[in-house]
Order: sequence, then C-alpha cells, then structure tokens
Amino acid sequence: MTELAIETSGLRKEYGTKIAVQDLTLTVHRSEVFGFLGPNGAGKTTSMKMLLGLVRPTAGQARVLGEPLGNVPARAGVGFLPEHFRFQDWLTGREFLRFHGRLFGVPAKTLTRRIEDLLGQVDLLDAGDRKLREYSKGMLQRIGLAQALINTPRLVFLDEPTSGLDPLGRLLVRDLIVRLRTEGTTVFLNSHLLSEVEVTCDRVAFVKRGSVVRQMSLAEQTGGMEVILRLGASDARLLQGLARFGRDVHSTPDGTAVGVSLQVEGEEKLPEIARWLVGQGTDIYSLSMGKKSLEALFLEVMGEDERPG
Ligand SMILES: Nc1ncnc2c1ncn2[C@@H]1O[C@H](COP(=O)(O)OP(=O)(O)O)[C@@H](O)[C@H]1O
Ligand SMILES: [Mg+2]
Repeated sequence: MTELAIETSGLRKEYGTKIAVQDLTLTVHRSEVFGFLGPNGAGKTTSMKMLLGLVRPTAGQARVLGEPLGNVPARAGVGFLPEHFRFQDWLTGREFLRFHGRLFGVPAKTLTRRIEDLLGQVDLLDAGDRKLREYSKGMLQRIGLAQALINTPRLVFLDEPTSGLDPLGRLLVRDLIVRLRTEGTTVFLNSHLLSEVEVTCDRVAFVKRGSVVRQMSLAEQTGGMEVILRLGASDARLLQGLARFGRDVHSTPDGTAVGVSLQVEGEEKLPEIARWLVGQGTDIYSLSMGKKSLEALFLEVMGEDERPG
C-alpha cells in the first residue's frame, strides 16, 4: 500500500476553450491535513471534483488512496463536503445523516451510534429532529460536515468548510479537523481563510490560474522571517531606509505609534535594524520577529494583485 493518499500528475480540465485547471501536480501523504490555497477562480473546486471522480479530467493521471480516479471501492473510503450544496431539506438532521450513511452501506447498528456521535461533534444533538429547512446557514454547514464523515472516511475533502460560520463555528471545525488528524484521517482542505489554514494544516499547496505553483510544509516553513515594529513615527524617508534591510515594507497607524512590517532573510537583520533606527533617533515601542505569516507568503506567491477574498 502506498503511503500517499493522493498523487497527481498534470491533471487538467478544460471546459470548451476555458481552462479551469491547467496542471495539477501534487502529493498528499496519509494522515496529514493538506491545505489547497488560492484566490477565487484558481481551480480549487474543479481540482477537488476531479479527485473525487465527479469531473472527468481532460488530461493527466491521479491515484487516490492508491487507486485510479473513479474507482468505486476507493470512493467508499472518501468523504466530501461540497462548497455549494443543496441538501434534502425535507429531512430532519438525523434522517439526513441516516440517508447518506445508507448510501455508503454503513450497517444499521453502527450507523445509529455514528449519527449521535457526529451530531455531538458538530453541536447539533438538540437540533437533530428538526428539518433541515429550519436550519440556519451555519447549522447546514455543520450538518454537511457530519455528512462528509458519516462513512468514517480515510480521506475527507472539505471545500471551504468554514464559509458561513461564525467564530464559534470556525473553532468547532478547527477542533474537528485536529481530531480527524489524531485519528489518522487525511484531510484535503480548500480554503481562502489563511489564518485558519495556518493553525490546522501540515502542508499546503498554492494554486494560481489552474496550476500548483508551490507546495510546502508549514512546520519547516522556509522563505524568510517577518519583522514587526512599533515606532514613534515613520515618514517616507524612514520607510525607504528600512527597505535596505528587507522587502515589502508596510506601515499602518497603531494608536499613538506606527506599526511597520517587513520581510527579511534571517534574524541577524534584527539587531542591524535596531541599531539603525536608534541612529535615526526614532522611538522604538516594540520590535519583534516571527515566521512569515501565511498571508505574507500567499501574497508573495500570488503577487500583490490577488489578495484572498
Ligand atoms: N462547469 C464549468 N464550466 C465552465 N467553466 C467552469 C466550470 N466550472 C468551473 N469553471 C471555471 O473554471 C475556473 C475555476 O473554477 P473553480 O474550480 O470553481 O475555482 P475555485 O474553486 O478556485 O474558485 C473558473 O474560472 C470557473 O469559472
Ligand atoms: Mg471553489
């Protein structure tokens, strides 16, 4: 059995003359949480649908759970939360989960336990006997998540799982993903919410105009550091001066002070910057340095023209 949950090479999808996915080449290891990041229209949903066997690729190869695309037994081990879904809204939450569990052939006894367990995990035990048409958007998103896990999948695809959720709902999804990872489930997550991805994902791929432009592990994230300063004042001359120590110098008002951030190659730049600022007679309120934020990386990879939505 291969160690890879997903392995693709040159997957491509054309709709007429429109290229939705140009070149999807990536690997996802088993039991990792993998973030698939890119701006709207980059081809994330189409990529996911190809991996699920819902959209037939125009070209390229892929294996999911060691099997070629569209393999039916492999599909039984896969879960899916679609981005836009229309559920059977005349069913209650419990009926809906039972229906989807039966489609997967989950035995009746296991299914009853599984339904209660999942309703608990998505905080819908009390609403389980209400019809889906009475659910709020956030509740639908959460019952959708329970649905994606009804067959106890080895690999689950979540397309924008936190869209439509309030901060508490997002926290719930984050906890759920962490639990899935602990249990050894592979999670493939499409998202444009970078701060969320940053805390839950082991590895990420950046997709731009239908091609994977970078894949990286977040643990061993390389590519420089971010310096964050709070200064008494910053004028154009000072910002220009800072630019010699690094790139992407930004300033924002921050109370009585001014917040300034810049990207540098390594931490040895920090004392140099401090010395220089003191030499300029600038008041320094704080000075810190951290791993480059995922947002900074995203902007770097995508180019400043494509900020996430
Ligand atoms: N069924 C389709 N027919 C024609 N174009 C499509 C279809 N599905 C997606 N596209 C186009 O392919 C591109 C990628 O779409 P999508 O995969 O939904 O991107 P994302 O999920 O990253 O926002 C978009 O330009 C979209 O308009
Ligand atoms: Mg999408």
